[in-house]
Amino acid sequence: MSVSDSILPGKVPAHVAVIMDGNGRWAQMRDLPRQQGHMEGVKAVRRIAKAACKIGIRYLTLYAFSTENWGRPKEEVSALMALLVSCLHDEMPLFMDNGIRLRVIGQADVFLPEVRAALDAALEKTAGNTRMDLVLALSYSARWELIECAKNLARLAKAGQLDPETIDGSVIGNSLTTSFMPDPDLLIRTSGEYRISNFLLWQIAYSELFFSPVLWPDFTEEMFYAAIADYQKRDRRFGKISSSKTMLSTIKE
Ligand code: FPP
Repeated sequence: MSVSDSILPGKVPAHVAVIMDGNGRWAQMRDLPRQQGHMEGVKAVRRIAKAACKIGIRYLTLYAFSTENWGRPKEEVSALMALLVSCLHDEMPLFMDNGIRLRVIGQADVFLPEVRAALDAALEKTAGNTRMDLVLALSYSARWELIECAKNLARLAKAGQLDPETIDGSVIGNSLTTSFMPDPDLLIRTSGEYRISNFLLWQIAYSELFFSPVLWPDFTEEMFYAAIADYQKRDRRFGKISSSKTMLSTIKE
């Protein structure tokens, strides 16, 4: 029996976010250039996107390039950008055959025109797909996003279009780049690191966390399904008490 058979169809997380870590180490362990690790990472993206679609995940958000990643050696940044462009082209059949709509969160205006053009074309081509949104976090960091949100709300308040007293969680949530989707139910990080690395800090307030020791290029469908099955066993309380306890106290009353 495969792990996917143990997944409960009624309890599939609507939104899974992934910190795809370990490409560099995967390559270094094989005496290969780091770029080779990123190329293997693309194969894992393909596997996991298909697997997510198969079990009915509605949003899959991938941390593909952080604001901080601009500080990597120039050759690695250029290789990642080239890989992104080729990936957007080569993976189009995957997107179209599986009903995947591509979305981007992050500071889009900092990309070179050819990268921007490839992104815009892919966003437009897949805009009508409705099965799953594949959200690429590109030049993204949570602190950047929160600073932008604060600036936008301050501008509205200054212009008299927003009463600061009305700012609540939903006003903030609706001002973030992720406003079109629910918060992640599950956040997966590969490669044995136990960090959030400036990813979706507001949105993961009540997400379940799953850390895998496996490097991203080696992360398989079965490992992804195992993370989902593990999530399905968890009791999500959102700061309240579990529903079973509520039932128990009701019975006692
Ligand atoms: C982290 O591994 C991975 C990245 C910084 C880039 C992720 C990119 C891909 C998986 C390529 C495919 C995605 C697109 C959109 C083209 P790392 O380099 O930090 O690994 P390390 O921690 O072992 O050094």
